[in-house]
Amino acid sequence: MALAAAKPWGGRFSEQTAASVEKFTESVSYDQRLYAHDIAGSKAHATMLAAQGIVSEAEREAIIGGLDAILAEIEAGTFLFRDELEDVHMNIERALTERIGAAGAKLHSGRSRNDQIALDLRLYLREQCDRFDELLAAMGRALVRRARHYLGEIMPGYTHLQRAQPVLLSHHLMAYYEMFLRDRGRLADCRKRLNVSPLGSAAMAGTSLPLDREMVAAALGFAGVTANSMDSCGDRDFAIEFVSACAQIHLHLSRLSEELVLWSSQEFSFVSIADRFCTGSSIMPQKKNPDIPELIRGKTGRVLGGLMALLTLMKGLPLTYNRDLQEDKEQVFDVVDTVSASLAIMAELLENLSFNTETLRAAAERGCLVATDLAEYLVEKGVPFREAHGIVGRVVARCLERGCEPSDLSLAELGGFSTAIGEDVYARLTPTGSVNARLATGCTGLPRVTEAIEKAEQFLGIHP
Ligand code: ARG
Repeated sequence: MALAAAKPWGGRFSEQTAASVEKFTESVSYDQRLYAHDIAGSKAHATMLAAQGIVSEAEREAIIGGLDAILAEIEAGTFLFRDELEDVHMNIERALTERIGAAGAKLHSGRSRNDQIALDLRLYLREQCDRFDELLAAMGRALVRRARHYLGEIMPGYTHLQRAQPVLLSHHLMAYYEMFLRDRGRLADCRKRLNVSPLGSAAMAGTSLPLDREMVAAALGFAGVTANSMDSCGDRDFAIEFVSACAQIHLHLSRLSEELVLWSSQEFSFVSIADRFCTGSSIMPQKKNPDIPELIRGKTGRVLGGLMALLTLMKGLPLTYNRDLQEDKEQVFDVVDTVSASLAIMAELLENLSFNTETLRAAAERGCLVATDLAEYLVEKGVPFREAHGIVGRVVARCLERGCEPSDLSLAELGGFSTAIGEDVYARLTPTGSVNARLATGCTGLPRVTEAIEKAEQFLGIHP
């Protein structure tokens, strides 16, 4: 009986928990990661309990002192987390009671682990939103620095992975900057919604003790309190939103990785990755492999899997708390670890890339990439676009036949396709002419890309 009573729920039980059950149900092996948030929540709760006369001032002091000592021990690595105490909440509460006695046993007044874990996870994810914002800002800085460095260099832009039109390499890099900027917006939005305190919802119906929920929320830096105690204990939307934003970040990383894998192949030879950022083969001496982008691309599967796991976890749950919810933590932690590691290494990798600008330019010079420019030139001369498209199609067919570019055709020959074509066409038929002509907002013309870089530099506090 003594052992059964060692559980907080021991009063109702006549048997000790089976060892296999303890092993199967414990979460402390991974939720101990939440210790600092758990302790911060407990301190705010204790202070509020004292303000409400539920514990005395002396008891409050004992609780705070005890929790601070436990925090210091955990941080020093000397605290022993015990599996038989199931989770981080009970481990800390038990250690507190062992240290300060009855006052420790009062801490859980008006609280349940159901609102406690909802609180801890919100505090943890709020912190991760801020950390990820920093990581994404660093990624933005790395991209913008590269874009600044290579400003003016031309490459082929692709659709269907077929060479399409000349663009500035910086424009291509800044496309990723925009993606990661939107990711920052998504996380900021998620942070707003998760920044409300569920504490005081207790098991799910609230409590008859006179708690001041707003006081606890303010002490923990929340913008307010959740509106419905049942929702507060059963909801994990906030975690799904966070993981979904992370999945989107990793998709962006994966697309960038895919391009780096392609571009560093001998077939493209657009970019070289510094040796210290590659690895070799154990059998083929000549190999230098782009393992970092490959691994990032590969890890996308587990991040998307994490999102799918959370969505599926929630799908059939009746209100309110169900033990299933314990399964959210490992997914969330794995996504946090994976995405933050990928972001950090990708930002570093970008600094270790050198683009083969001559190869990029040469690739933009072959394949009639200025065909659209010729069509638009005709439009400027009054030819309806659809007609112009047909004319240029025939020019391209001629070029394919000859194995040449439109600019290699004489004015007389070009004039045979359309009388609207004059000497001034040649300035438009080079990659530089093509890029320079694209001047509307958001296009690849040099002044527009320069503006985009300047705007980003200003926003990120970069002084070029
Ligand atoms: N370890 C639990 C979880 O992660 C904490 C809440 C447990 N509540 C309960 N009634 N068993 O969800």
